[in-house]
Amino acid sequence: MKVCVLGAAGGIGQPLSLLLKLQLPAGSELALYDVAPFTPGVAVDLSHIPTDVSVTGYVGDEADQAMRDADIVVIPAGVPRKPGMTRDDLFNMNAGIVKKLIGVGASACPNACFAIVTNPVNSTVPIAAETLKAAGVYDPRKVFGVTTLDVIRSNTFVAQTAGKSTDDVSVDVIGGHSGVTILPLLSSVDGVSLSQEDIETLTPRIQEAGTEVVEAKAGAGSATLSMAQAAARFTMSLVAALDGESVTECCYVQVGDDTASFHAQPVVLGKNGVESIPELPPLSAYEQQLLDAMQETLAGNIKKGLEFANAED
Ligand code: LMR
Repeated sequence: MKVCVLGAAGGIGQPLSLLLKLQLPAGSELALYDVAPFTPGVAVDLSHIPTDVSVTGYVGDEADQAMRDADIVVIPAGVPRKPGMTRDDLFNMNAGIVKKLIGVGASACPNACFAIVTNPVNSTVPIAAETLKAAGVYDPRKVFGVTTLDVIRSNTFVAQTAGKSTDDVSVDVIGGHSGVTILPLLSSVDGVSLSQEDIETLTPRIQEAGTEVVEAKAGAGSATLSMAQAAARFTMSLVAALDGESVTECCYVQVGDDTASFHAQPVVLGKNGVESIPELPPLSAYEQQLLDAMQETLAGNIKKGLEFANAED
């Protein structure tokens, strides 16, 4: 298994690379790429950890070599939010980074699974899809927005509220990955019965949890460690799936006939990426209302990404 991390020397990329060095199966290859000149040094540093995962570092115009024949490409590259910014405010800086990297990936590893962390995920994932489509190599089963951080945050906050171990809590989160488009399904958490009052307190907390970190870091960026853990969990699920296991994860994928239909929900992953997308569980009236209300925002985020991808460079 070859896993490539793009943006590997950054705030998310370094802890993500560490987690992957520790968790990837023996014999795997971990390729780290970043524009930061010290990226090969990050690779040397990690390579001293005694696991049977080889680590290589690439920089500058070597993205192509880093991605060559990768099975999975994880992309946390880009600029983080500062207090007062929305994820959409990052569009102008990060959209071009994703388009460029995916353009390289389209020829270096056209069969890879692409897992995108770079915000605004609601828009960067459609950009990736359209870029691969323009290169003639788009496989909707293999392009993912990583929304796992919404899931692990929900598990943490629900476990705290319900007085349970986080091991016993598994929340599905649907929609997208910003503000009102993040919809945790708190009315149907297995083994947990929350009051409507708790649900109406937890839902906005989960929707704004990224902002909670941005404000707490006071200008020094956004979630890096929890995002690294989330991206590592999603990557390891993809590794297991590509190895033939059937694994279910919530993620942001194309759910309909075209790239205007991206949506996060539980997805069954298998050896070719998305294996099936089960029907959503029954929603409470509160959840249905939030799902209906987010559609316009989500559609606008997707359209913005599609238009950017299809504009002349
Ligand atoms: C998060 O959810 O923490 C990330 O998407 C980063 C951010 O800007 O909130």
